[in-house]
Amino acid sequence: PESISDLLDRLSAIVPDYPAEGISFKDLTPVFADPAGLRRIVDEVIAPFAGQFDVIAGLEARGFVMAAAAAYATGTGMITIRKAGKLPRPVHRDEYTLEYGTGTLELHRDDVAPGTRVLILDDVLATGGTVGSAARLLEKVGAKVVGVGVVLELAGLGGREKLAGLKVHSLQLV
Ligand code: PRP
Ligand code: MG
Repeated sequence: PESISDLLDRLSAIVPDYPAEGISFKDLTPVFADPAGLRRIVDEVIAPFAGQFDVIAGLEARGFVMAAAAAYATGTGMITIRKAGKLPRPVHRDEYTLEYGTGTLELHRDDVAPGTRVLILDDVLATGGTVGSAARLLEKVGAKVVGVGVVLELAGLGGREKLAGLKVHSLQLV
């Protein structure tokens, strides 16, 4: 059987000089578009957390692909953690640092009950700014973050170190 790393190498698209010159971008959209690819990454991302979560949180936008599929596959629900201004009811808000500038994520105050065990899913872990922000929002509502699952972990950007204290599972270090 093909290893997950071989599958990702086979299906991902490498985009040279994106988003900036000298950066080689690994685009996961062909993996999402492949029937075996999508199933495989979702199954492997959640595997270490089996039985440990009540709900799955997806981070807008690319994390929604992973989280919705994983929630459906495991018979749980999905929480949407969104970019600022998208959620219609009262929210908690958290500002985080990006490579250039800042971003803001929001979570409905009542979408997660206190004590709920939440698994965070996203496509890529880079600096850890996005996942760190999501974890703070979930803490604010009294949820317990049981872990973080991502497909790609970018080396050398300090994401894993920034999330010290959280169990982070990535399928490939690039
Ligand atoms: C990308 C990616 C992760 C995040 C990783 O999202 O999907 O969510 O960056 O970077 P970080 O670890 O440094 O925070 P982006 O904000 O580009 O938006 P999108 O998912 O809506 O495309
Ligand atoms: Mg994202």
